[in-house]
Amino acid sequence: MSNYYTTPIYYVNGEAHIGHAYTTFIADMLARYSRLKGETTYFLTGTDEHGQKIEESAVKAGKPTQQFADEISALFKDLWDEFEISYDQFIRTTDDEHKAGVQHAFKKMFDKGDIYKGEYEGNYCVSCETFFPESQLIDGEFCPDCGRTTNTVKEESYFFKLSDYEQKLLDYYEAHPDFILPKSRRNEVINFVKGGLHDLSVTRTSFSWGVPLPKEFGDDKHVMYVWLDALLNYVTALGYGRDDAKMELWPAHMHVIGKDILRFHAIYWPAFLMSLDLPLPKHIAAHGWWTRDGEKMSKSKGNVVSPREVANAYGEENLRYFMMREVPFGQDGDFSQRAFIDRINSDLSNDLGNLLNRIIGMSGKYSDFVIDSVDVEKYHSAELEEMYAILDNVEKYLDEVQTHRFLEELWKVFTIGNKAIEAHAPWVKIKEGKTDEALATVALVANVLAKASLLLHAFMPKTTNIIADTLGFEINTASYNALLKEKKLLETFTIKKIGPLFPRVEEPLMEEAPKAMMEPEKPKESKKPEAVKEDGAGLITFDEFFNTTLKIGTVVEAEEVPKSKKLLKLQVDLGEDELRQIVAGIKDYYSAEELVNTQVCVVANLKPAKLMGIMSAGMLLAAKDDDGLCLVRPEKPRKVGSSIG
Ligand code: MSP
Repeated sequence: MSNYYTTPIYYVNGEAHIGHAYTTFIADMLARYSRLKGETTYFLTGTDEHGQKIEESAVKAGKPTQQFADEISALFKDLWDEFEISYDQFIRTTDDEHKAGVQHAFKKMFDKGDIYKGEYEGNYCVSCETFFPESQLIDGEFCPDCGRTTNTVKEESYFFKLSDYEQKLLDYYEAHPDFILPKSRRNEVINFVKGGLHDLSVTRTSFSWGVPLPKEFGDDKHVMYVWLDALLNYVTALGYGRDDAKMELWPAHMHVIGKDILRFHAIYWPAFLMSLDLPLPKHIAAHGWWTRDGEKMSKSKGNVVSPREVANAYGEENLRYFMMREVPFGQDGDFSQRAFIDRINSDLSNDLGNLLNRIIGMSGKYSDFVIDSVDVEKYHSAELEEMYAILDNVEKYLDEVQTHRFLEELWKVFTIGNKAIEAHAPWVKIKEGKTDEALATVALVANVLAKASLLLHAFMPKTTNIIADTLGFEINTASYNALLKEKKLLETFTIKKIGPLFPRVEEPLMEEAPKAMMEPEKPKESKKPEAVKEDGAGLITFDEFFNTTLKIGTVVEAEEVPKSKKLLKLQVDLGEDELRQIVAGIKDYYSAEELVNTQVCVVANLKPAKLMGIMSAGMLLAAKDDDGLCLVRPEKPRKVGSSIG
């Protein structure tokens, strides 16, 4: 039995954010877990580098497309390497082997009669690299998925006969109820297919950054549709079409993806595979969407969470734990420092870290860290039974990627350890001369930690290796089998003294998302574009405008906020009894000194909020474009407190 896991291949039009990291953490965890169990495992990740979107991003960056793709692809790879993501292969769709595999597949589908040449007229969203029928567009113009403007495109195209696969797909979903995970997403796919599948345009002539058609087609104005090219990576990585040796790893055990690309994986991909006479992956597991502090992350809002920044501030493995514990798989999740800190302090520091500290302390005091032939079962059979009832039943949650349930259940064994210490009070037993009994309790807890570490290893590899080293054993398939499957106990071992593994976090370690500035929202980012219509929809009344109090102020003092890259703390005179304290994310554009004694425009009736723990009671008006940000100021000096409007 072999387990082949994949992440989506990431578009090289921007750097990785925590959404990408989440997909990668989950696939990495599953691959590590499978390896620990001793199963043949293969883990693929990589980058998706073709298509109009990438071509346009390269032009914007003023770089040749290949160079642009090389640079961003390397950023992804470097980040995963820094995070020690245990991939076996990093594929790039610009690799020659991949391109040859895609051409081979195209030819095979064509020869089979599943691809034919025709003409396409439709509305194309470059960002989603997808055509949409008129009926699905918002206001007849905007993409129903991302809200951006679509273009009308008419071009000659090759089509894949997706419509021929409608019934075959429905039959497959019916026969494989756990093909799509979580199961709650299954109906959405089934309903989409039942709604009728149109043939899929699988080539483009409007741009050239893609895999060309095979030479024998003599049709060099066409390049492959980026999703056909991209999905095939899962088999070209195994040598499909050139050297089939690794194809024995196929079908994949699981493609881990985000919910936004479920349709491509659960409809198009199975149809392509059926056409190629290849078996279908066992599971398509679609996770939810991450927001930051309740808001969609976007470059224009400046609130994208960088995985490296979080890892530097809080520790990469803490981030892995948080993301996989906090959110039920398939549901949307919110990244907030408060929730993250709570998890670190309560789950990691209190429950797990303290338990380890307690036995390090006790073993040091009672037996100079040496546990020698103690009889855990004699004193703790009830606790052992309770512990195995949990450990024996926890793995099933990972079959459906229910990472939060798995961790929630696993954590119950730490309660058993803590309760055992309270109930058996080893410090009393030592005073009574019952050293064996006291050390048996220490050993029980060491075993709780050892067994839990084995199960936690795939989530927090480095941390659990430290715990194992502290308890004098190694995490590997042999210890997994011995301690978990055969239920052996550590009874003779030496505990090492180490410092706290999870220091408590008292306050946010990263700057909050900038809210002190008025960032102009790009209309294309919004789901339902708010155009000003002839009937006045989208306009506001005088009263609505004057709900906002805008005033002229003079900056009296300004200083940098310690540890913050963006924030300045200002004291602004608004003609009131006291100066107003305003924290603004403008340090990239203004120094504290140059702001003093200058005038600014202030939103004066904004609800006060804390930024990096500092109260801010107002907001400065500013304008931002590609050249940077500048403050909006009165053309001539005005009295402080003058109202604007
Ligand atoms: N290139 C395609 C995938 C092709 S796979 C054959 C693609 N790339 S992507 O870079 O846009 O997205 C990759 C993954 O990141 C997707 O699974 C997507 O769901 C995930 N995420 C992107 N933003 C996300 C969040 N804000 N939250 C969670 N995951 C998100 O799609």
